[in-house]
Amino acid sequence: MTTLFDYLSESRKSIISLLIGTPSVDLLHKAGQLMQKASEEYHKEESFADALQYGPKSGTLVFRKELAKFLSEQYGSPVACEDLLVNAGASQGFHCIGSLLFQSGDLAFVEEPTYFIGLTAIERDFGMNVIGIPTDENGIVVDELEKLFVQHGNQMRSATERKPFSALLYCIPTFNNPTGSVLPAERCKKLIKLVRKYNVLAVCDDVYNLLSYTGDKPPFLSPPRLFTFDDKTEPDYKGNVISNGSFSKLLGPGLRLGWLEVPERVHQILETSGYVRSGGCFNHYTSCIMAKALQLNLVKEHLVFVQQIYSKRLDTLCSSLEKYMPCPFSYRKPSGGFFVWIVLPLEVDCDKLYDVCVEKYNVEFNKGSGFSAKGQLKNCMRLSFSFQDDDAIEDCVKKISLAIKEVLDAK
Ligand SMILES: Cc1ncc(COP(=O)(O)O)c(C=O)c1O
Repeated sequence: MTTLFDYLSESRKSIISLLIGTPSVDLLHKAGQLMQKASEEYHKEESFADALQYGPKSGTLVFRKELAKFLSEQYGSPVACEDLLVNAGASQGFHCIGSLLFQSGDLAFVEEPTYFIGLTAIERDFGMNVIGIPTDENGIVVDELEKLFVQHGNQMRSATERKPFSALLYCIPTFNNPTGSVLPAERCKKLIKLVRKYNVLAVCDDVYNLLSYTGDKPPFLSPPRLFTFDDKTEPDYKGNVISNGSFSKLLGPGLRLGWLEVPERVHQILETSGYVRSGGCFNHYTSCIMAKALQLNLVKEHLVFVQQIYSKRLDTLCSSLEKYMPCPFSYRKPSGGFFVWIVLPLEVDCDKLYDVCVEKYNVEFNKGSGFSAKGQLKNCMRLSFSFQDDDAIEDCVKKISLAIKEVLDAK
């Protein structure tokens, strides 16, 4: 067993998957070469063994400065080095926030649909009570969210010194998983007003932000993230948003390296927690190598490369859908990320369709119902274009289309 996907049985290994949301093997290979080069350069430094010591609680200044510079360029808006805290990937960053700032029984508002494993963490690991928020093709419907805040106001927790928020808002405003949507600026502004008013912490899973596919020429810039709308110069600013970022999708998840961009009051709580004080920086060694990769401009070069590859794969996926789908369906071509969200006629039950796809056609996708806090969205599916090459994507869409036809014909 060398990777998470080795759990697949021999028979399932032959399945072409549009389910997996990670870089493909060829892109991991390229990222591996990048890390090798950065690592060789790093180990030429006299102080290379410092990387094996406990790291500073938020991460080394060298790494955070390089990261802030890189992100500021790609986001097209400033990222402050002092707001950054190194994490061991967004999953770990989220766990850190969930376990330190909230407790069992607290409320968590999540987009409907949302990232299914984020949902598992909130419900199963943090023991929080989940409330689904209505979304449309642009993400959270902010007026509906306000209604939910009002409706559940009496269940929100009272703020304490180390748990200063009344509830969690878990969201993926940029290149959403699963829908690919981007929350428009106007909604971001309204959302900030709302989370301030109700003392809610918005934790944004910003793991796809850098994977943007529109603009004049690569590197394509990311849309503004929600964090920038929580403007520190405003009189009612307190710090209600966290941006949880990661190198997993850009380079490779095995790195287990990312960053939290946090307001000062949250930074204080994290840095003084037993978790951080005991272990220091969450991934010191890898961050030292990554600092070198950033200094050598290798990460930016890689970003340009993968943006072009993914953009082409996205085109292939969309043109294949147009070519092969046997029934009316709707989708919105995303401008970034890894996924296309498809809405099929109500009579197509994707839970059942999935079995036909796997058993008869050797292909798989993600069932829409898995992304629903309410167990709905059975007529939806998520297709990932990150893990397969263009030919495999087309082949897979063709086979899924055949399976849909079969399911519809049997009605
Ligand atoms: C929305 C979202 N958050 C978090 C993760 C996991 O990120 P990481 O590998 O940085 O823990 C994923 C991976 O699929 C994801 O889609």
